[in-house]
Amino acid sequence: MAGREFDIVLWGATGATGRRTAHHLARRCGDCGLALAIGGRNRERLEALRDDLPGAGREIPILVGDSHDTAFMGEMTAKTHVVVSTVGPFALHGSELVAACVGNGTHYCDLTAEPKWMRAMIDAHEGKARETGARIIHSCGQDSIPSDLGVQFLQDAALARHGKPCRRVATRVTRMKGGFSGGTAASFLNAMRLRETDPEFDRLSQDPYALCPEGERDGPDGPDRMMPLEVTWDADLQAWTKPFFMGPMNAKVLRRSNAIMDYPYGRDFSYEETALTRGGIGGWLAAMRYALFGRLFLIAMATPATRGLLQRHVLPKSGEGPSREVREAGSYELILVGEMPDGAVMKARITGQGDPGVRSTTLMLTEAALCLAEDADRLPVGGGFWTPAAAMGALLRDRITAHAGLTFELVEDRQP
Ligand SMILES: NC(=O)c1ccc[n+]([C@@H]2O[C@H](COP(=O)([O-])OP(=O)(O)OC[C@H]3O[C@@H](n4cnc5c(N)ncnc54)[C@H](OP(=O)(O)O)[C@@H]3O)[C@@H](O)[C@H]2O)c1
Repeated sequence: MAGREFDIVLWGATGATGRRTAHHLARRCGDCGLALAIGGRNRERLEALRDDLPGAGREIPILVGDSHDTAFMGEMTAKTHVVVSTVGPFALHGSELVAACVGNGTHYCDLTAEPKWMRAMIDAHEGKARETGARIIHSCGQDSIPSDLGVQFLQDAALARHGKPCRRVATRVTRMKGGFSGGTAASFLNAMRLRETDPEFDRLSQDPYALCPEGERDGPDGPDRMMPLEVTWDADLQAWTKPFFMGPMNAKVLRRSNAIMDYPYGRDFSYEETALTRGGIGGWLAAMRYALFGRLFLIAMATPATRGLLQRHVLPKSGEGPSREVREAGSYELILVGEMPDGAVMKARITGQGDPGVRSTTLMLTEAALCLAEDADRLPVGGGFWTPAAAMGALLRDRITAHAGLTFELVEDRQP
């Protein structure tokens, strides 16, 4: 790529996910020769990080500024083809950067899982992004790449084998082993505060089609509920399901994928994402226990006194995250069950190596940034606000399979 000083700027390199992303990018950019810079608000911490990077990473330029400094955001985004941001909560610290990327036609990806902010960014900037050519892609971590690309993988297989998509897909999280970082806790805390102060917040959180374009916000799915006290029986997998915390968020993203790709999954496509326990009374009890615990946790987080206690004594702080052992021992598995109107069933299995919240997330984010930089001429979309599946699809799937430890496999194709 030519014409700008940098190919990729990593913004927020000193945080828990930023540091890991810096390491992955330094290693990968060393291999592929892209010009990388790291940025943030604290020079000393950026220098300490740089000293620790592998290979040529120690030569990487450093950019120092503040996310709320619009002039600096403008200058920084004019110098690079791609910005990858880990400065969150994005609703608090991300808006100026998105506006600057859109203004300068700079491609952008991040780790947000904040639908209200994403909706606000789309509404404010989508028209301009189409003009300037900036590809803006939110949610390039565990939320929501495995679900978004997983459904696309299953539907591509359904179209290739049966000539039609699955009308309903249920994603079951069968394993999720790892931890989460301080920024995730801060984003969650911010969401709980917004619930108290912003009457629109709950309405939008529950609207399953909240991220779809205007005029495209109808469909068969009912409200997205965060932690219902509800367990259901999955007859196909012969096990009880329990709520999955990030299911509603991931579902919104892939419903947007379907809408902005002009409905390859069909206009009557229905989706749900939950976690799975096992069969029998033991499985039911485990699912109920989890649902109850989740509900109690939400109540504790919604109550200022207990929220303060959790924040001070339990939740990780900014910059903190799971230990190296937890990051490396972590893993996850999703089983996607797709049903066709004639009763045919297709299943896909997605696995990830490494703790989903930090290791796998930052490996995926790294590949998303590289895909925006290296595959710019091969992407099927121009400027605008896209999802991982709509903008990068199979290109990103190949990358995360080769470099981020994910696998995508079709495990069943059963005729009615
Ligand atoms: N989608 C997913 O699957 C997923 C997974 C993990 C995390 N996340 C999200 O990723 C985000 C980052 O998480 P994290 O745990 O890495 O957070 P973190 O450790 O708190 O790091 C935040 C970073 O933002 C920087 N920052 C904060 N305010 C800034 C400002 N005004 N100007 C410039 N830099 C600023 C911090 O700089 P200092 O170091 O100087 O404080 C730090 O580098 C969060 O929003 C989190 O929810 C998403």
